[in-house]
Amino acid sequence: MEKIVILTGAGLSAESGLGTFRDEGGLWAQHRIEDVATPEGFARNPQLVHDFYNARRAQAAEATPNDAHHALARLQREFDGEVVIVTQNVDGLHEKAGSSVIHMHGALTGALCASCDHRWPAPLEMAPGQICPSCGAPQGRPDIVWFGEMPYFMDEIAEHLAGCTVFAAIGTSGQVYPAAGFVQEARYAGADTVELNLNSTDVSRAFTRHLIGPASEIVPQWVAELV
Ligand code: APR
Repeated sequence: MEKIVILTGAGLSAESGLGTFRDEGGLWAQHRIEDVATPEGFARNPQLVHDFYNARRAQAAEATPNDAHHALARLQREFDGEVVIVTQNVDGLHEKAGSSVIHMHGALTGALCASCDHRWPAPLEMAPGQICPSCGAPQGRPDIVWFGEMPYFMDEIAEHLAGCTVFAAIGTSGQVYPAAGFVQEARYAGADTVELNLNSTDVSRAFTRHLIGPASEIVPQWVAELV
């Protein structure tokens, strides 16, 4: 049976109005990664980190899926085989379009206790000293995988990659591992590989096929070939 594994990145949500990280004027041009996306940054200044994620959480709550998200949900509904979406995005737009996804970098809608690892639905606004509803420690943090932390569901993702017949990377710059290495794992499994992006990336040469253009145009075209 055909099995498609899809890795999505911030470029998929760009046309929904959510900023990417490394494009001109992106999030990492506005904020220092070490201040807002590391455990050390959170320990140093939890208010700054909560402000950063509160703003992104509010923006994501208002955002709507674009035609690329809807096309991937259609693929999951109509494809005659298995379709697994692994997303680096934390914005929840795949779910709003009706997709089921594996959140390897966590989600803005999630809160995590830094003391007991309990997880609960994040309030729209989190603040330093957020009380954990399970252990009561004032250690609540965004359930986001920060730099230096291990992405989630890696064993499950490795199994999907080992069994896939097609691997697609959509809207990701291929600069952050382990996600940027998934294409090699798929090639070892003998899968066809396709990169869908506005531009070429650091890992373009690892893909056998490239579709260039805005995701809201090229993803529906790609899905139409498959269903
Ligand atoms: N359509 C398709 N691709 C697009 C579009 C668009 N409309 N707009 C931008 N892109 C592409 C860019 O060309 C780039 O290759 O999306 C990619 C965005 O790259 P990044 O900003 O680096 O985002 P991403 O690859 O998802 O980052 C990976 O890095 O900072 C960490 O945890 C964070 O999950 C994130 C990870």
